[in-house]
Amino acid sequence: MGEMMDSPALLDLHAEPSAAELIAARPQLSMHAMDGLLVEGVALNAIGDALGTPTWVLSAGTLRGRLRRLQSALAPVGARVHYAVKANDHLAVLRLMARGGAGADVVSGGELQRALAAGIDPGLIVFSGVGKQDWEMRLALERGVAQLNVESAAELSALSAVAVSCGRTARVALRINPDVDAGTHAKITTGKAENKFGVAAEDAAGLYGHAGSLPGIEAVGLALHIGSQILSMAPYVAAYRRTAELVRGLRASGQVVRAVDCGGGLGIGYRDEAAPAPEAFAAAIGQAFAGLELELAVEPGRWLAGPAGLLLTSVVLEKRGGARRFVVVDAAMNDLLRPSMYDAWHGIVPVGAERGAVSACDVVGPVCESGDIFARGRFLPELNAQSRLAILDAGAYGSVMSSTYNSRPLAAVALVDGDRWSVVRARQAVEAMWDGEIVPEWIG
Ligand code: LLP
Repeated sequence: MGEMMDSPALLDLHAEPSAAELIAARPQLSMHAMDGLLVEGVALNAIGDALGTPTWVLSAGTLRGRLRRLQSALAPVGARVHYAVKANDHLAVLRLMARGGAGADVVSGGELQRALAAGIDPGLIVFSGVGKQDWEMRLALERGVAQLNVESAAELSALSAVAVSCGRTARVALRINPDVDAGTHAKITTGKAENKFGVAAEDAAGLYGHAGSLPGIEAVGLALHIGSQILSMAPYVAAYRRTAELVRGLRASGQVVRAVDCGGGLGIGYRDEAAPAPEAFAAAIGQAFAGLELELAVEPGRWLAGPAGLLLTSVVLEKRGGARRFVVVDAAMNDLLRPSMYDAWHGIVPVGAERGAVSACDVVGPVCESGDIFARGRFLPELNAQSRLAILDAGAYGSVMSSTYNSRPLAAVALVDGDRWSVVRARQAVEAMWDGEIVPEWIG
């Protein structure tokens, strides 16, 4: 037994996927002996040289390919894809989604305006969210969005008043809270009774009937979304089964239910998790709603955009703290918040062809917070100041959650498509961070 035992450090090393394994599992990435890490046909070093770092790099091919893959998996059940704009709301990303035939799921007036600006057909836009304000509802109705997903009695009355005042009819799906545990991180689970989202299944029937009786409201169906980064089909199956029962019950009592919005939440493999195939998602939907003749839709964000993006960063310096090796990079928690906020694991791969022995290190940002850490105990080769690293699978809930904390400008965004690439958002100028700020004269 003795000689079979690895030292603890080696055990960790074996538990982590290697850079080569991370690259091999992502079709848009490859390592070139001279040029280093490529996204599609473009060397990350070329983008880094041109734009500096930190810079987000998105792969158009991956976005298109994943959309097509999801659409074809869902085609047999007839479910339409409404991309959850919150995952990555760049106009270029939204335009790619529109070109690929996706609709959008928006949760604010701002997202609605972005989706429209990018050319998404309002007839393919669904407006979700637990606290829509009157101006947002009015905008949605005036621009002719397909559906508003309503989450409470209070929201229904407010929407009815707005619809009447602008002479429109709001097509409404009632978001139900199916009270299932999606088995994901507490901060991204939404379908449990204690979460703020949706209406309890036992209140849904009454509220649905009430909705139909309100002026300016047409109740068209139900919506649900149980959480994010869901890696098992079981919670979906349970939630959809409950929803289907509700549809049958509503119909039995004479209500018209035409549509079900099945939500998003499909997880991806950040590390080496087995992520469910979209065909399994489609099968869960198909089985639960078979024979009900519903217009079905889904609202995925992460599954489409997550694997399509990375955060390119440069090493500022290395330092030691006791026995620990710290690699300080120029990206920080203000750029990519997920590791600090959800203890999320993101693969980190050297961009150059750095070789040599790897050793454990913590990859940290320069922000003055202990939580500004991208990874702990990661095995990386020796790096120089200016070595670049790619933080993988940062296409969803990456740049959209950035802030300018520590007065760090919003990073640039580049979009790669085959051998070409373009800047799709310039790096924010330092002065732009205080644009609109006013120092009152009376301060002196
Ligand atoms: N529909 C609704 C109503 C949602 O609230 C969400 C996400 C989605 C669809 C899309 O879910 P997805 O397919 O992307 O899982 N910032 C967190 C994730 C928050 C998700 C919020 N709602 C993270 O970085 O993990």
